[in-house]
Amino acid sequence: LENGLARTPPMGWMPFERFRCVTDCVQFPNDCISEALFKRTADLLVSEGYGALGYEYLIIDDCWMEPNRDAVTQKLVPHRTRFPGGMKALSNYIHDKGLKFGLYHDIGERTCMSLGPGAFGHFALDAQTFADWGVDYVKLDGCYADHMDFDLAYPEFGWALNKTGRPMVYSCSWPFYINKPNYERIKKHCNLWRFAEDVRDSHRSIFRIMQKYYTQQHTLVQSGGPGHWNDPDMLVLGNYLMSYDASRLQLAMWAVLAAPLIMSNDLQTVRPEIKKLLQNRAIIEVDQDPLGIPGESVYTLGNLQVWRRPIQPINNLGLHSYALAFVVLGDYFPCPLCPQTFEVVLEKLGLNNIMGYSVHDLFNISDELGIYKANDKFQTRINPQGVTFYKFKAQDFY
Ligand code: GLA
Repeated sequence: LENGLARTPPMGWMPFERFRCVTDCVQFPNDCISEALFKRTADLLVSEGYGALGYEYLIIDDCWMEPNRDAVTQKLVPHRTRFPGGMKALSNYIHDKGLKFGLYHDIGERTCMSLGPGAFGHFALDAQTFADWGVDYVKLDGCYADHMDFDLAYPEFGWALNKTGRPMVYSCSWPFYINKPNYERIKKHCNLWRFAEDVRDSHRSIFRIMQKYYTQQHTLVQSGGPGHWNDPDMLVLGNYLMSYDASRLQLAMWAVLAAPLIMSNDLQTVRPEIKKLLQNRAIIEVDQDPLGIPGESVYTLGNLQVWRRPIQPINNLGLHSYALAFVVLGDYFPCPLCPQTFEVVLEKLGLNNIMGYSVHDLFNISDELGIYKANDKFQTRINPQGVTFYKFKAQDFY
């Protein structure tokens, strides 16, 4: 969507994978979807340094509404006990921290958790309400909408947002809910869109979403770019089940795919080593690369899969640099749970700059691994569930 927004993939925080739809603030004051959770997270985004690195959108997901619209005005109403100050005050709080404010809604009759009304029949009113509240980002889900034609309804809600005159990033769940998504159309109307199932806190889930991308990568690579991004869903690092290596895998892969980096975790309790991953500047820089070209899998051998994203700088012959992620697929005979060593000639990955590439480990950028030419073999050792991730910087021709 060419609305001037999301020129690089949006970054921020959203509660759903971690906090779901907890509404009992008496029993679970720390976990319930409430004003307190968002204020606390706004504070932590800034005080822990995430905001300065680009994690700027603080997005409220489902379960923020009263069950019904206001009887007189028909406007959406934030839950009275969980959001006692209302949305405008919370929006001001978030803006005063230098952050941006996102809000979830649904295009159909009810939101996905069914606690509040959807936008059906009220597109203009809801878009205007969001604009009045100072919303900067709208996530529009697609539940309870079997009777609707999304190819018409999603653009229509987008026009309603546009008509308010307030710039709002438009995040659509449109392709996820339909059979044969027309990405040419979707990318004209949305700044980002979900193309796969909801992410969960596990290596298996990360892997499934990656492979979902893989099966449609020719289309998805064409669809993503500045202003319009493929969204594989939230970053779940920092929660309960992902190993350190699986956490590295998700971060590296999301950067390769040019994915939004929207964390869903409890910033109060993220472990130091995971915080360090989330704050890895070199990887954030790959994700936010201004060329905005999504990566793809370029090579599979045995159980090695190599993913490649073209990035800056472009050398003086017009050749790209690359971010390369090396991933292990499934079990490995004879030792499924051991680290594995792979070797590959760079040319096979399409890296054919005759001047070669200077190579850096993106997890430890000060680690300069030397210059590799197109016909050199590159060796890497990958942990179970893990990834290795490098920047191959194209050397100039002289
Ligand atoms: C759907 C979406 C999730 C989340 C929930 C909320 O499942 O895909 O990201 O927003 O709804 O109910």
